[in-house]
Amino acid sequence: MAVQVLNTADQELVKKIESIEAYVGNTPLYQVKNVFNKPGVDIFAKLEWQQIGHSVKARPAFNIIKQAVKAGLLNREIHLLDASSGNTGVAYGAIGYALGIPVTLCLPENASTPKKDALKQSGVNIIYTSRFEGTDGAQQKAKELAENFPHRYFYADQYSNPNNWKAHYYGTAEEIWEQTEGKITHLVTGLGTTGSFTGTARRLKELNPNIEVVSLQPDTAMHGLEGWKHLETAIVPKFYDPFLADRNLLVSTEEAYKLIKLVNEKEGLLLSPSSAANLAGAIKVAKELQGGTIVTVFPDHGSNYPEVLKQLL
Ligand SMILES: Cc1ncc(COP(=O)(O)O)c(C=O)c1O
Repeated sequence: MAVQVLNTADQELVKKIESIEAYVGNTPLYQVKNVFNKPGVDIFAKLEWQQIGHSVKARPAFNIIKQAVKAGLLNREIHLLDASSGNTGVAYGAIGYALGIPVTLCLPENASTPKKDALKQSGVNIIYTSRFEGTDGAQQKAKELAENFPHRYFYADQYSNPNNWKAHYYGTAEEIWEQTEGKITHLVTGLGTTGSFTGTARRLKELNPNIEVVSLQPDTAMHGLEGWKHLETAIVPKFYDPFLADRNLLVSTEEAYKLIKLVNEKEGLLLSPSSAANLAGAIKVAKELQGGTIVTVFPDHGSNYPEVLKQLL
């Protein structure tokens, strides 16, 4: 008879994880009033930079680590390994540092300087991959390492790990539902790993099937919307469900960059490219409506992208 060896969870680590939970999620809902104003149509955005690691990725990174530690798959002797364009890595780094879990990250070499600095500060072991292959190249490298060194690494694989989208199913969606007092009529947000759209849309549809869920993508394969994927030409994340979105809209890098400048002048917020692209999508939907409550997400802050801001502001 085959004997299954079960790893036991490090209970001290489990307790430490619970103490970090307060710094994940529960982000404010900001009403966009100045760059778009139409009576009866409200646009709100979750300010996702207000949590550990300063991005939306705190949610999946934390949930992936928590579930892996609880299952006995990850501890202070095993490296957490993944690929990221930066934000998930920064979140892993911050959480890993607090818990004493080593982190190895495959990162495209053109990731922004502040993200590289944050990774170095939290002691992340960075393996750079080609800028021309984007996160797809980083993913391939991480997969290779995981296959070659299965005892050294726990491969978190944010692109396939269901604990990514579940973080949004149980977190982001419930927060939006409560913060809008159930009044949300549209969810509009972009696709990267697709975790935030998948989890949030799936739960909101259960809470009210009449909510329209709109996914956004860059209009070309070569784009400047860091964090987003052009799914036609990229490796499609395993848990992506093409039937979940009621529709899909395209956003150009130029539209997003224009909005960064406008939002900075009129709202006093410094948006990242993907935050501005999400807002561009929300405004497209808002223009079609006579009434409604549209919710989007601002995944991270503009200060992460000095190279972009230098050209714009
Ligand atoms: C800046 C930024 N925007 C948007 C996204 C997309 O979010 P998701 O991976 O949940 O689809 C990411 C994901 O890495 C990101 O880092």
